[in-house]
This record gives sequence, C-alpha cells and structure tokens, in this order.
Amino acid sequence: MVDLNETKQRDQWGSKIGFIMAAAGSAIGLGNLWKFPYMAGQNGGGAFVFVYFAILILVGFTLMLAEIIIGRNTQLSAVGAYKKLNAKWSWLGGIGVLAGFMILSFYSVVGGWTINYIVKSVTGGLASSDPAVLGGLFEQLIANPTEPIIYHALFMILTLGIVKGGISGGIEKATKILMPGLFIMMFIIMIRALTLNGAMAGVEFLLAPDFSKINGGVILAALGQVFFSLSLGMGTMITYGSYLSKNEDLVVSSISIPLLDTAIALLAGLTILPAVFAFGFDPGQGPGLLFVTLPAVFAQMPLGTLFALIFFVLVLFAALTSSISLLEVNVAYVVDEFNWDRKKATFVMSGLIFLVGVAASLSMGPWADINIIGGRNIFDSLDFVASNILLPLGGMFMCIFIGWIWGLENAIKEASNNGKLAFKLAPFWGFLVKWVAPIAIFIVFVQSSGILSLFGF
Ligand code: PFF
Repeated sequence: MVDLNETKQRDQWGSKIGFIMAAAGSAIGLGNLWKFPYMAGQNGGGAFVFVYFAILILVGFTLMLAEIIIGRNTQLSAVGAYKKLNAKWSWLGGIGVLAGFMILSFYSVVGGWTINYIVKSVTGGLASSDPAVLGGLFEQLIANPTEPIIYHALFMILTLGIVKGGISGGIEKATKILMPGLFIMMFIIMIRALTLNGAMAGVEFLLAPDFSKINGGVILAALGQVFFSLSLGMGTMITYGSYLSKNEDLVVSSISIPLLDTAIALLAGLTILPAVFAFGFDPGQGPGLLFVTLPAVFAQMPLGTLFALIFFVLVLFAALTSSISLLEVNVAYVVDEFNWDRKKATFVMSGLIFLVGVAASLSMGPWADINIIGGRNIFDSLDFVASNILLPLGGMFMCIFIGWIWGLENAIKEASNNGKLAFKLAPFWGFLVKWVAPIAIFIVFVQSSGILSLFGF
C-alpha cells in the first residue's frame, strides 16, 4: 500500500479501490456530516441543495478529474507538480497550502467537539430530546475557554500521529471497514429520523427548492461547499492522484468519488433536517446543528446510547481521514520547499495550526465579539476565506492552467492513458475546463456580495 511519506521511491495504490477509498476518505468528513446540513439550513434549504448540485455537475466532477490528471501525470504533490509542468505556476500550490492550513485549524476544533461527544455518549450526558437541554450542552462546551481546546489538542495529536507514522497500513485497512460502517449507520439513523412525527417538513425544506431564496450569498456558499466537501482546489487530489498507476481509469474514479461524497452529504441532510423540524430546532442555528439535533434522535431509538457512541466514533474516523490529508499538504510543502526533516515539519506545522485553532475555538466563547470579516468571528472567517475564496480561486486558476497553459491535449492524453482508453466525453470535459468552470467561478466571485463587501462595496 501507499506510503505518502515516501518521497524517493514512489509506491502505487495496491488496488483501484485503495485509491478510491483514500480519496473518498479525504472527501468524506465533517464537510458532509457537520457542514452540509447546517449550510443548507442557513442558506434556504432546497435552494442551497439545488445550487450545490448545479455546481457539483458543472465544476465538481470536472475539477476532480483535472486534479487527478495533474497528479498522475507528474507523480508529484501539488507544489512540485506545478513546478514540474511550468515553474511560473508553483504559487498555485502555495494557495492550496494556505487553504489547508486555515481549514485544518478550525476543522480540528470541530474534530475536538466530536471527541467530547464520544465521551458524553459514554457517560450518558446526552440522554435528552429537549432542544433547550441539548442546545445548552453544546453552548456550554464551545463557549468554555479551556475544555474544547483540550479536545482540539487531542484531535491534532491523533492527526499528527497518523501523518508522522505514515498513512499506509492500519489506516487503509480501517478505512475499508469503517467507511461502509458509516454508510450503514447513517442509513439506519436516517430511517429513524424520517419516521419521526413531522419529519416530512424537513425533507421538503431540503429537497423542494424555493428559487426566490437563491442569491449571491447562497451561490457563493454552495460553491465553497462543493470545493470543501470534495477536497478540491488545494491540491489534495493531485497528491492522491500522483500514486495512481498508469493503467487506472481516471475518469471512472473522478465520477465515483463525488458520487460517494454526495451520497453521504445527502444522508446526513436527510437525517438532520427532518429531525430539526420534528423536534422544533432552528434550522439556521449554524455549526451546532449536528451536535444538538442528533442526540435528540438517539434518545428516540432503542439502544440510543450505543448508537450515539458508534455514530460519533465513525464521525471522528471520517474527520481523521480528512484531517490527515489537510496536514499532509502542509507537511509535504515544507519538506519539499525547505528541505525540512519530515518529523520536524509535522510537529512544527501541527503546532502552528493548533495555535490558530485555539483562536478559532476561543472565538466561540470569550472572543465572540472579535469580528474579522463581514461580522464573522475568527472561526467563521477562517472558514469563509479558505473555503469560499481560496479553494475556488485555486480551482479557477488550475482550470486556466490546464486549458490555456499546459494544454487540453496533454490533459486528455493523460486521462485516456495515452489513447488506450476511450474517453468519449473528452471534448465536453475540455470545454468545461477551459471555459465553463473558470468563467462560472469568476462570475460567482464578482456577483457575490460577500466578496465585494470585503472590499467595501
Ligand atoms: N473534504 C473534507 C470534508 O468534507 O470534511 C475536508 C477537506 C479535506 C477539505 C481535505 C479540503 C481538503 F483538501
């Protein structure tokens, strides 16, 4: 199996399913389970989901293939890949490194909340379906100046431990069991949520779009969410693709990963929002939605405590298979660029990310009044800048790079394994990469009041 730590001699994925599992492991994480439902809740439900799907189809699949192509062609991780293809473009890898740094800093805080909820489910602290009680529990946790920071540290240590020791072996074996486990668990919990009294209002909220709710802010949020959820725009899939053998069918992979990722996001949405409506929670309450709503569902299930425990363990696992890919992008960068020893790079980068995460965590409590961008606290500002600006920007420039600098012929040659495989959609994909995706991202940027307001408009 692949060892992402190995820089001299490059391994390859033992099997195609190994690559899909690892890439899906990076894609499927807190973005699907925690972020997608609350973003939908805050951005008009069906309106958000509709725009999400439109962007997924036009931009998501397209960029997934594009990143994997660059990775396999160069057999290098992000910064090195751009350097090899055209040295003038290596800054593009740098944007990705910055995005990964910012995302992991708040991601780890949420990972910490997950660990806390594992503890809570063991100690029976979650046994209530009263919205006020569950909301209070969550608020108490995140507003505490020390407790969430300890859990954030714990999550960072777990991530660091895995990245330091190499991603191969145990993690890959665990992924093969735990990912399907997550699917099955989500499915069972969804059935329970859907059969609650009043659940259908949540299904309608999520799936019936009210088009009048679509505005610049909703479109920007959906764009950022597609990138965040698919791990696109920062070179993660370049790195993973770099370990693929020259015989693999890239097109098939680039379709399966987004499909799996979207399936999990929809399962989470169809569990959490029906429960929100059934129990009378507020769909727009933000980052606490998963943590406040699901315990109420577990309280209504036989063996609810056990379900809660297994569920939060699986969430933690999904979060770790994503956080390792975020840290890896940072570590690979300093190892390659500054010739640092891998161990030192892992410790220093984790430490810096941890410190920024401390600020993100405090901004949910004692530092709640500090506003950085457009009235957002530190936590939300890190998310906004990384997910809604840096990732789409990285994706847009990557399209420009492929379409106009490196050349579609080269990319298509790579995707078709030098003409050995039929890539029937090549002209269509080329059109999307060269024109549709970059222009669409550009228009969303220009149109969205969120970006313009940063510059005082
Ligand atoms: N895709 C991950 C999730 O949905 O939780 C988050 C993420 C991982 C984003 C890796 C970006 C990335 F490069």
